[in-house]
Amino acid sequence: MGIVFDEQQNVFMLQTKSTTYAIGIVEGYLGHIYYGRRVDSRDIKYLLRYEENPKTPKVNQREKNSFLDQFPMEYPEHGMGDYREAALCIRSLGGYRASESLYQSHWIQKGKKPLEGLPASFGTERECETLCITCFDPILHMEVELYYTVFEEADVITRHVQVQNKGKEAFYIEKILSASMDFDDRDFELLSLHGSWARERHIQRTSIGYGRQNMGSIKGESSHQEHPFLAVLTKGANQEFGEVYSMNFVYSGNFIAQVEKDQFDRIRMSMGIHPEGFCWKLEVGERFIAPEVVLVYSDKGLGKMTRTYHDFYRNHLIRSPYKDKKRPILINNWEATYFDFHEQKLLEIAKEAKEVGIEMLVMDDGWFGKRNADDSSLGDWFVNEDKIKGGLKQLVDQVNALGLQFGIWFEPEMVSPDSDLFREHEDWAIQIPKREITQSRAQYVLDLSRKEVVDYVYEAVAKILRSTNIAYVKWDMNRQLTTLGSVALPADRQGELYHRYMLGVYELQERILQEFPKLLLENCSGGGARFDPGMLYYSPQIWCSDDTDAIERLLIQEGTALIYPVSTIGAHVSVCPNHIVGRNTPFQTRGNVALCGTFGYELDITKLSREEKELIKQQVVNYHTYNELIREGDYYRLISYSDNKYYDSYMFVNKEKTNALLFDTQILARPNRKSRNLRLQGLEATKMYMIEGKQYSGAVLMNVGILLPEEQGDFMSRVIQIKGV
Ligand code: DGJ
Repeated sequence: MGIVFDEQQNVFMLQTKSTTYAIGIVEGYLGHIYYGRRVDSRDIKYLLRYEENPKTPKVNQREKNSFLDQFPMEYPEHGMGDYREAALCIRSLGGYRASESLYQSHWIQKGKKPLEGLPASFGTERECETLCITCFDPILHMEVELYYTVFEEADVITRHVQVQNKGKEAFYIEKILSASMDFDDRDFELLSLHGSWARERHIQRTSIGYGRQNMGSIKGESSHQEHPFLAVLTKGANQEFGEVYSMNFVYSGNFIAQVEKDQFDRIRMSMGIHPEGFCWKLEVGERFIAPEVVLVYSDKGLGKMTRTYHDFYRNHLIRSPYKDKKRPILINNWEATYFDFHEQKLLEIAKEAKEVGIEMLVMDDGWFGKRNADDSSLGDWFVNEDKIKGGLKQLVDQVNALGLQFGIWFEPEMVSPDSDLFREHEDWAIQIPKREITQSRAQYVLDLSRKEVVDYVYEAVAKILRSTNIAYVKWDMNRQLTTLGSVALPADRQGELYHRYMLGVYELQERILQEFPKLLLENCSGGGARFDPGMLYYSPQIWCSDDTDAIERLLIQEGTALIYPVSTIGAHVSVCPNHIVGRNTPFQTRGNVALCGTFGYELDITKLSREEKELIKQQVVNYHTYNELIREGDYYRLISYSDNKYYDSYMFVNKEKTNALLFDTQILARPNRKSRNLRLQGLEATKMYMIEGKQYSGAVLMNVGILLPEEQGDFMSRVIQIKGV
C-alpha cells in the first residue's frame, strides 16, 4: 500500500518502492517529517520538534510567532509568522495579506485524476494512489487541498495544490507554489540547469549558503536561461553515490525554484509559478489549480535519479502514440535554406534524402503569407504560392510519391506587426494600452487568454492540417512575453495573463491532438527554451537547441538527459563549419551525437559530397540498429567533458542487461598517450559480455574497465557495442 494514515500518531506515510515521505499533524498544523530512503516505522514524528522550545501555540500561545517560524511547515502560508519562503499568499478584498489553513480532513484513493486544463502525470489504479489533505482558513473561508500521488513502483511522488473560495467574497491569490519541503541541512549542495540561447541546460553545482538562492523565469516560458528543476544533494555526490532530492515542474510558463537555508541550518526547497507578475482573483465558489511538481529522491547518486525520471516520463507523462516507437528520420530545410526556398528546392532535397534512407521532409519557417525573412506574416497561415507553386497539397503529394512523409513548421502563438491578422485584430496582441509593444524578432505575442484568439489559431492550424497529408508539426515559439496586458481582462485580473496564456497554449495543443491523434508533434522555442515536462505531455519530442554543433551538443544533451529521456531530445546532423560556432567536427561524430536523440538531418543534402552521403547511409543503418536500445534503455553517464575537458562518455543498457552501447567522444587529442581506462556501469556483474570479439564479465567491465585507444585528432567519437553472451 502506497499511502497509510496512522490515526494514533496522526502521521501520513507515503511509501514508494525505496522512499518514504512522511507528514504529521500537530494541533492542525501540517508538518513535513521526512523524505528519503524508505523507513517503515511510523514513530518518527519527533522530527517535527514540536515539543522543543518554543512548543506549539496551544502550550505556549505567547510564542506562536517563534513556533511558526521554525516548524517544518508542509505548506507554508504568508502573514502569520513564518518568515521563510511562503508557498501561499492571499490578499483579501480588504487588502489584508494573511492566511492560516489548518488540517480539516483527508481522503486516499487509488489512481490519479487529471488536472483540469494542465499537463500532468498519469497512472492507473494499480500503479498509483492519491492522498488529498484538506486544510481550511476560517477567516477567508478558503479550502486548500494538498494532493500527493505515490507511484510506488516508479519510485516517484507528485504534488499539486488546489485552492477553493468557499466564502462570501472574492480574494486574490498573490502567490501559489506547488511544493515546499523542509529538511535539516546535511552539508548539501545545489544543482540547477542554466543556459542561454544555443547553450541550454548546462549543469551548475554550487554550495548552499544562508538566505535564499533561486532560479526562475518571468519570460512566459520555462526559458533558455534557467530551468524548472532543482536538486539538493550531499556534497560530492556523483553519478553513483550520494543522496539527491529533486523537484521538476510540470509547467511551461513562469516558475520559481528555490532553496533557503535558515537560522537553524534547515533548508526549505520550493517550486511553483513565479509570483512576480502573478495575481489571481478567486471569486466565490471558484477553484484554482496549481501545476504539478514531480519529486524524485535517490540514495545512489544522480544516475539513479536520472533513470527514475526517464522511466517515469516515458511511462507516466508522455502520451503520444510515438513515445515507444522509432521516429521517422527527418530532414529539415532550416539550416539548408533558411527562408530562401521554393517547392523545387524542397523536392530536390527530398529526392536525395530518399536515396540515403531518410524518411520525412520537414518544411520549416517561411512557407506562408509573404514571409521571406523573419519580419512578417506570422498569423497569416495560408501557403505562399509564389514559393510553393501549385500549393501545399501538390507539394505534399509529390513528397509522398517519393516515399517520404511530410512535416511542417508553425509558430501559432505569434503575430507579426506586418501581417493581415494584426492589421485586422490589433487588439489580439498582448499589450498595454498607449505603451509601445516591445518587439522581439520583429513579432508580437497573441493574447491566448482570449477564447476567440485560441479559436482562430486552432482553426488556422487545423485547416492546413486538414488540407493534406501532414504527419508531423514543429510548433515553434520564438520570443518571450513582454508588455504584459490583455485588453480583454479587467484591471484586477491583469495578473492572471501569464498563466491564462499558458492555459491557452495547452488548450490549443490538446485540441490539435484530439483532432489529429496520429500527428507527431515536436515542440520548439527558439531552440530549447520550452523543453520541460509540461510540453512533453503534448509532444513526445522537443527541439533541444539551435546549436547543432556536436561538441556544444554534448553538454546541452547531457544537461537535458539529466532529467529527460533521450527519446525526447530533438537532435540533428548539420553541416560544417557549424552555423552557430563555426567549428569543424567529423561527420561521424555529428551522427553519433544526433543518434542520442530523435535523429535527423538539418542540411542541404544536395550539396554534400558522395562520401558524406555514404556516411549518412551508414548512420541510417546505425539508427535502425541502435534506436530501440537508446530510446528505451537505461542511461548511464560515465564521464562528462565539462569535468575533464578531454573525454565524454555515456552508455545505454537494456532493461534485461543483455545489451549495451557505449558512446565515447575524445574532445581533444592528448600527445604521448596510447590508451585510457574507462569503467562501465549498469551491467550485470555475473554476466559475460562481448566487446569487439573479446569476452569480459560484467564485474570486470564495471570495476577494472576497458582500454580505449587514444585517437589521432580532435572531436573523434566511437560507438561500441557490448553484447551479452
Ligand atoms: C527557431 C527554431 O529553433 C529553428 O529550428 C527554426 O525553426 C527557426 N526558429 C525558424 O524561424
